[in-house]
Amino acid sequence: MRINKFLADSGVDSRRACDKLISDGRVKVNGKIASLGEEVDLDDVVTVDGSVVSLKKKFEYYIMNKPKGYVTTVKDDKGRKTVMDLLPSNIGRIYPVGRLDYDTEGLLIFTSDGELANRLTHPRNEIPKTYLVRIVGKISENALAKLRNGVILDGVKTKKATVKVVNETQNFTKLHVTITEGKNRQVRRMFESVNSEIDFLKRIKVGDLTLRGLDRGEVRKLTKEEVYYLQNL
Ligand code: URA
Repeated sequence: MRINKFLADSGVDSRRACDKLISDGRVKVNGKIASLGEEVDLDDVVTVDGSVVSLKKKFEYYIMNKPKGYVTTVKDDKGRKTVMDLLPSNIGRIYPVGRLDYDTEGLLIFTSDGELANRLTHPRNEIPKTYLVRIVGKISENALAKLRNGVILDGVKTKKATVKVVNETQNFTKLHVTITEGKNRQVRRMFESVNSEIDFLKRIKVGDLTLRGLDRGEVRKLTKEEVYYLQNL
């Protein structure tokens, strides 16, 4: 790529202003003063006034309030609606981070930044994810203790979870459940293992990131601060 484009894409200044830097002899490529129109590639070390300049990768970051009835995949073999159908059509290649079941609602992040996607989904990082769970009927203290301490799924004990009852009526109990893993259908299976039937499940938080202001089915870009927060979570 042309050196002025390289510098401009790296955020140094406009192409024209970068041409001036080059003519002033302030830009070097691999230690040699650069010339106008010179071609550079990703292996070249480009400096301006002695500081190394590198191409900024421009990643995209979005948050969605997923409704139920959508599959979290880029393309569904069975022809069902996917979360991609809810994204604006002019968006480039972005992918959902992790998965929410067809019948689960709530917070879903999309990005083209593979490093962040890995960070948020790798079990080693124990990223807390909080769910609003509604179950039919009541739940015993014994069942709550089991959910908090870990239940056996596929022969492996789940990690400790935070489980709080937030509302109890005659027919339903609402809880907030925070887990730090992401096994397949984990929350549903945790409740099945204590004989509770989930009739509504929604992810309401990833770390402290919430769905505030986003209606069901809506999508928005994450702010720089939110991206920074997730990168350091
Ligand atoms: N746990 C579940 O059971 N389903 C989800 O979609 C997410 C977490």
